[in-house]
Amino acid sequence: MNTAAFADYRRYPLISALTAAQVLPDRVQVHWADARLSPFHHQWLRDNCPCAECVYSVTREQVLEIVDVAEDIDCHEARIDDHGCLSLTWSDGHRSRFDPGWLRAHAYDQQSREERRANKAQSRLWDSNLQLPVFDYQALMDDPTVLLAWLRALRDTGLTQVRGAPTEPGSLALIARRISFIRESNFGVLFNVQSKADADSNAYTAFNLPLHSDLPTRELQPGLQFLHCLVNDAVGGESIFVDGFAIADALRRENPEAFRALCEIPVEFRNKDRHSDYRCLAPIIALDAQGQVAEIRMANFLRGPFDTSVEQMPVLYRAYRRFIAMTREARFQVIRRLDPGQLWCFDNRRTLHARNAFDPASGARHFQGCYIDRDELLSRILVLER
Ligand code: OGA
Ligand code: ZN
Ligand code: ZN
Repeated sequence: MNTAAFADYRRYPLISALTAAQVLPDRVQVHWADARLSPFHHQWLRDNCPCAECVYSVTREQVLEIVDVAEDIDCHEARIDDHGCLSLTWSDGHRSRFDPGWLRAHAYDQQSREERRANKAQSRLWDSNLQLPVFDYQALMDDPTVLLAWLRALRDTGLTQVRGAPTEPGSLALIARRISFIRESNFGVLFNVQSKADADSNAYTAFNLPLHSDLPTRELQPGLQFLHCLVNDAVGGESIFVDGFAIADALRRENPEAFRALCEIPVEFRNKDRHSDYRCLAPIIALDAQGQVAEIRMANFLRGPFDTSVEQMPVLYRAYRRFIAMTREARFQVIRRLDPGQLWCFDNRRTLHARNAFDPASGARHFQGCYIDRDELLSRILVLER
């Protein structure tokens, strides 16, 4: 039997050594050198056995299904071996061996879980006083440390600017692919933001665009959005950003009824042209399993008529008006104008963006944009951190 002690590509530093293991009726109680005590249920340990029979060594994915093991499986022996690993012998003769670093990283005693929660990357909420995270194009193309710093800023702050990029059309793809795959849409792999006569979106006019997320019309809104400035000779067209999470949080404190309505009442967003018809029905604010704000979905110009009960309709309008009014408040807004060779990259499911109207008669304006899903960002961060 293979004695692999964990099956992962990550490393698990030894935080504290194992000092003793005690077999109890339904669990093994592990003692650490720093005096922490971690219980692990027999089921859990058997389920996570990293041996070559339970995990295929090539893919490092589990082949064992816990339902194929007796529910009342018993542990016959638990000891700390010469390598400091937890070594177990099960009632059916199977053996498991656990690396102490891996075990500590996955311990589920209360203190370990609280520690993990505290160490988890936190969204840093921001307002008009944001110190905008700015990165140099060449540095993040050449230097993995700068790339990682940029990606972490995207994850934690959700708004970044890059300067010193080329101004050739199409060059945005190079920088986006530095992160990962581009998410194509009906607007293309890269989309051209220019005022056009036959616009299939208000984005492709010279109108102002109120604060919005892109593609709220899709079940999964794109995670990252890029807007790359190639030409900006027109008067107007400044970019505006707000932290949607900060606004939702403020709404939760200042107007709980409105907050609840936006979390609970679904609203339809639509995007249609001659060839496509996308619709998504979902609440404007999405919460995660812990009740934290996880996503904002908003674009007034893509919204369908509200469809809710007669009783709820005034509640929804009050909430919607309040939310939009807050996005217009100066305390939340960051306003900047992009020059050619500069680009925005932001969390499209958190940070709402807007554009002031511009005057196409005063000069040309050409931006290119694209999307990347949030999973790609998070995966890239974890691989760079390995
Ligand atoms: C868009 C958009 C902003 C801009 O195309 O969705 O928000 O500055 N554009 O033109
Ligand atoms: Zn096994
Ligand atoms: Zn947009």
